[in-house]
Amino acid sequence: MTASVHQGNTLDLRDRIVGIDQKVPLLDGSLVPYVFLDNAASTPPFRDVADTIERFMPYYSSVHRGTGFKSRVSTVAYDQAHEIVAEFVGANPDKDTVIFGKNATEAINKLAHRLPMDDDAIILATQMEHHSNDLPWRRRAKVVHTKVAKDGSLDEDDFDKQLSNYAGRIALVAVAGASNVSGYIQPIHRLAQKAHSVGAKILVDAAQLAPHRKIDMLDDENPGHLDFVALSAHKMYAPYGTGALVGSKDVFLSDGPEYPGGGTVDVVTLDEVHWAGMPDRDEAGSPNVVGAIAMAAAVKTLMEIGMEKIADHEEMLIAYTLERLASLPGVRVYGETNPTRAVDKTGVIPFNLDGISHFLVAAIWGYEGGVGVRSGCFCAHPYVVHLLGLDEDDSASWREQVLRGDKSDMPGLVRASFGCYNNTGDIDRLLDMLKRISVNDYQGKYRLIPSTGEYLPEGFEDPLESHFLLA
Ligand code: ALA
Repeated sequence: MTASVHQGNTLDLRDRIVGIDQKVPLLDGSLVPYVFLDNAASTPPFRDVADTIERFMPYYSSVHRGTGFKSRVSTVAYDQAHEIVAEFVGANPDKDTVIFGKNATEAINKLAHRLPMDDDAIILATQMEHHSNDLPWRRRAKVVHTKVAKDGSLDEDDFDKQLSNYAGRIALVAVAGASNVSGYIQPIHRLAQKAHSVGAKILVDAAQLAPHRKIDMLDDENPGHLDFVALSAHKMYAPYGTGALVGSKDVFLSDGPEYPGGGTVDVVTLDEVHWAGMPDRDEAGSPNVVGAIAMAAAVKTLMEIGMEKIADHEEMLIAYTLERLASLPGVRVYGETNPTRAVDKTGVIPFNLDGISHFLVAAIWGYEGGVGVRSGCFCAHPYVVHLLGLDEDDSASWREQVLRGDKSDMPGLVRASFGCYNNTGDIDRLLDMLKRISVNDYQGKYRLIPSTGEYLPEGFEDPLESHFLLA
């Protein structure tokens, strides 16, 4: 696929998104349909998901506890949700378990508690990891971070080197399926094969991959199989508070849960506990049934649309954006910049505009363009510092400043991130505003709030009462 022949929209899913036509206020008092380009942070719900929840709510009840009809309905739905999520990632229903929790961060923390490992074990991660696939491991073991190349891609020679340096001690290779900052897609099955060759297991933090590409954990006989996958439903069009950890039951059955409580046991005496099987052992307390059903409805929708179609459409959006950003003076894109290689990344485009803070660009887009993006370091500080080419000396002073409570000079990037429902019209809205910002054609006087790094327009208050205000 070449960029220039794919400038039309290849997939139209707008009717399937809740809030797609929602108008939002601008600084000049007008209302415009919101353009949401922060899907790497959280996606809006699919209409199918909201409808499924609405159909389910009259039957909502406790699961695995009650004998009434509503409990029976809820229990069946909750159990089916596990099966549907397992199918979505190609898990083996006989061998693997799906453990629902809050999000991918909780899933990774769970694995970091539960994975058996020796005292001198190594976790081999990468410098591009989200903090959620780094900090939980640092508590548990020595984490070795594989280097990334200047363009933000994995330095696979360094990966091979670290794998051989620490062979025999590596308990787990922990890698993002795709970066939340650059969209770079890691060669997960090749890394899995390499991990297995030295006796390590592999976890793929698939929070950023699952909404964009088909995931297949593959059979255990296949050396490229994935041992664990972590998912976040709020990035998969089901923002109802659920994530999942998928992986081999045996790992969890070898010990008790890190978070014991109701529902996790078969038998308890005053002196003894006999833990339940999976996934009950690791889903303490009354579970988020609604969230689990929402997640299952979302993955059913994604499978019905077809992950290949989604990938093709997003590839077109990336190519379309990269081509146009390349012709805008003063714009520097980080990571992959070649539109013909859009296939190698998810729809995440990080960039900066010369001479203007990333915080300010993002604020102007929001207040004057009606476009939602995110800026900053995206919970991946080491990776962003690397992409920006900052060395330790460059970083010492802003880090000290941040620790003193002042984020004014915190470096970062602006990030536009696409979902399967975005279209070229959305990107045109982004680019129009970017062109205006680049020639200072914006209206507000923005004031920096040092404690957060945010820029707020003077004399403007969000008219929340006309939109949504809880109290
Ligand atoms: N990790 C999410 C992001 O990158 C929240 O925005």
